[in-house]
Amino acid sequence: MDNRPIGVYDSGFGGLSVWRELYRALPEESLIYLGDGKNCPYGSLSEERIRELAEKAVGELIERGCKMVVVACNTATAAAINHLREKFSFLPIVGLEPAVKPACQLSRSGRVAVLATERSLQSEKLRMAVERYATDVEVIKAVGRGFVEAVEQCEEQSEATEKMVSEVVEPLIEQGADVIVLGCTHYPFLKGVLRRVVGSRDVRIIDSGEAVEKRVESLLDRYSLRADEENEAKYEFLTYADEEYRERLRRKAFDK
Ligand code: DGL
Repeated sequence: MDNRPIGVYDSGFGGLSVWRELYRALPEESLIYLGDGKNCPYGSLSEERIRELAEKAVGELIERGCKMVVVACNTATAAAINHLREKFSFLPIVGLEPAVKPACQLSRSGRVAVLATERSLQSEKLRMAVERYATDVEVIKAVGRGFVEAVEQCEEQSEATEKMVSEVVEPLIEQGADVIVLGCTHYPFLKGVLRRVVGSRDVRIIDSGEAVEKRVESLLDRYSLRADEENEAKYEFLTYADEEYRERLRRKAFDK
């Protein structure tokens, strides 16, 4: 048994979509969430800069006693996961990848769309996933421009956000995509507007939250890291932004 916390890291609020899955499925596990906030969005930063930021953040979570770290950010995973695993090879580090495999299995039209940041869409990881799983499926890539900012500003439900989401998503549906993969951990917070945009059309929206939670569980078992069933979990929130941001992180985490 190991009651040390699991660290969860993202550029900002997005990783809370993964945090919520862990909170729901693993009530005995303590969690420390680090949402950078100061350098968000990462999507437009250089790979080198993201590696630097990710190293600092993951290093901090480890210093605070984490037994495992989840990089709950597709962009940071794409830019830094190999570097992090080399640097901190003594503990398991879980990364995020777009759910290309289940999307290809679900698609009936033979077209799926991956929505992500520009950096994630250009990544080698995505290229490899497409090559491996999308053998007879066409993958349309689209940048969710402005999506991360809308979530950071807690503008998920506004009319302007719905219009912005519609402008990106409508052409994907018109091209025949019947599965939309949310390849950025901020995007699940836009599921409400996404569903409104899709309306009654037969289009599925999927993300990686549940798959990551399952991966965490399998690693907890593999390395005998599970917390005691009786453990009273603690939840901490950290940021490089200010106290107000930290409080917003906490509130969003427990928001229904
Ligand atoms: N949550 C991050 C991701 O999954 C957002 C990236 C950003 O900060 O631009 O890609």
